[in-house]
Amino acid sequence: MKVAFHTLGCKVNQVETEQLKEEFIARGYELVDFTREADVYIINTCTVTHTSDRKSRSLIRRAIRSNPLAIIAAVGCMAQVNADQLAGIEGLNLIVGNRDKEHIVDIIEEYLAAGSHACRIFAGPLAASTSLKIAAYTRHHQRTRGFIKIQDGCENFCSYCIVPFTRGPVRSKKPADVLLEIDQMLSLGYKELVLTGIHTGLYGYDIPDWDIGKLLQEIFTRIKGRYRLRLSSIEPLEVSETLIEIAVSEPGFCRHLHIPLQSGSDDILRAMNRRYDRYYYKKMLSDISKQIPDIALTTDIMVGFPTESESDFMQSVELLQELPVYDLHVFKYSLRRGTDAALLSPQVNEAEKQRRSQLLINIARQKKSEFIKGLDNRELEVLVEKKTGPDRYQGLSDNYVQVELKSRQEITGEFVNIVLGVNGTPIYKAASDVNR
Ligand code: 5AD
Ligand code: SF4
Repeated sequence: MKVAFHTLGCKVNQVETEQLKEEFIARGYELVDFTREADVYIINTCTVTHTSDRKSRSLIRRAIRSNPLAIIAAVGCMAQVNADQLAGIEGLNLIVGNRDKEHIVDIIEEYLAAGSHACRIFAGPLAASTSLKIAAYTRHHQRTRGFIKIQDGCENFCSYCIVPFTRGPVRSKKPADVLLEIDQMLSLGYKELVLTGIHTGLYGYDIPDWDIGKLLQEIFTRIKGRYRLRLSSIEPLEVSETLIEIAVSEPGFCRHLHIPLQSGSDDILRAMNRRYDRYYYKKMLSDISKQIPDIALTTDIMVGFPTESESDFMQSVELLQELPVYDLHVFKYSLRRGTDAALLSPQVNEAEKQRRSQLLINIARQKKSEFIKGLDNRELEVLVEKKTGPDRYQGLSDNYVQVELKSRQEITGEFVNIVLGVNGTPIYKAASDVNR
């Protein structure tokens, strides 16, 4: 039997797809590309915005067209909260939410055995006790950077966000299992591990005496060797002193923190239920950047949240201009049924969201180039991720700068030290000059 996957959305979803692939392989299935004809298609859906919904639906339809006789399963976040809408898609066989998706192989085998083609839905509620399984990998699923899911769920209920409904309560992977998973990935050859979760900063919330800082300390104490760790994202209120101490003192911790801001207006932050204000955020970023030179601080920002006025938006613009950020991801607010913000008025029209978004994208571009200029002549440690052409390689520095390298020797998967040229142009070095 051939199985094909397509994944939408966040890194957690990507990691979960990799775990599902492992399960299918272990049960004798052959993995094929999503564009090929398969017997089973799994679409791991996302529903964070209406665009994610649309993409999820269109991929389901594409799979149905590829092989109308195949079993088509929509799994993940959209399946969890929007099963009814998906059930209207003719030819979709299975709708399996986040609670049940880890059992998808069994569900498919039972479905095949039953012989009916009627659509079946598995979208039961996620409980705090729904445990987080350790992942077992037998194959390399990314390049040199591997992702480890340490946590699932969110209980913040930001007023715009559907995620607490799709992912349920906070559950953390046992510290011992995280360590085992890291060992496993290092022995597969990964050199950088990214700790991901839906709300990574709440790691340990459900385990007495554990938090993300302690987990990081434990990893660095117990696991020796040449590797580096990156944290995928952390909420402003969870950036603790311990975390900053680790970032300052632990050379294996990447100088990169993604700390979502969402808005620069205190009124909007309050309406979003974010529980910090612009002053708090600004002070935090300025303290971090003073303590950790050249740290890449990145953020998410939303435009067009309901009631966001021109003056609220301008506060986001002004704040971003003052912040020491390297990159920002701009999101246009998307109304999600069932969230508190869906009931707020006035909602901002699409053209206005588009205009605000474009303005922030321009600021993002400018911020990025300022950050890279600030790194002139700085030595950076780069992990070479892939070969891009004859003697050409691409890598990533610990502070998230993508670098092109020239080398006559094969250097994929190696750490190399390079010096950035003026205006951030990398100095292409011959392999003999590359300082390993
Ligand atoms: N509309 C637009 N963006 C959203 N995000 C979460 N919910 C929504 C929504 N309803 C964005 C937030 C978050 C990122 C992962 O997704 O900016 O940080
Ligand atoms: Fe959504 Fe807020 Fe939870 Fe992030 S912290 S997943 S934005 S509710």
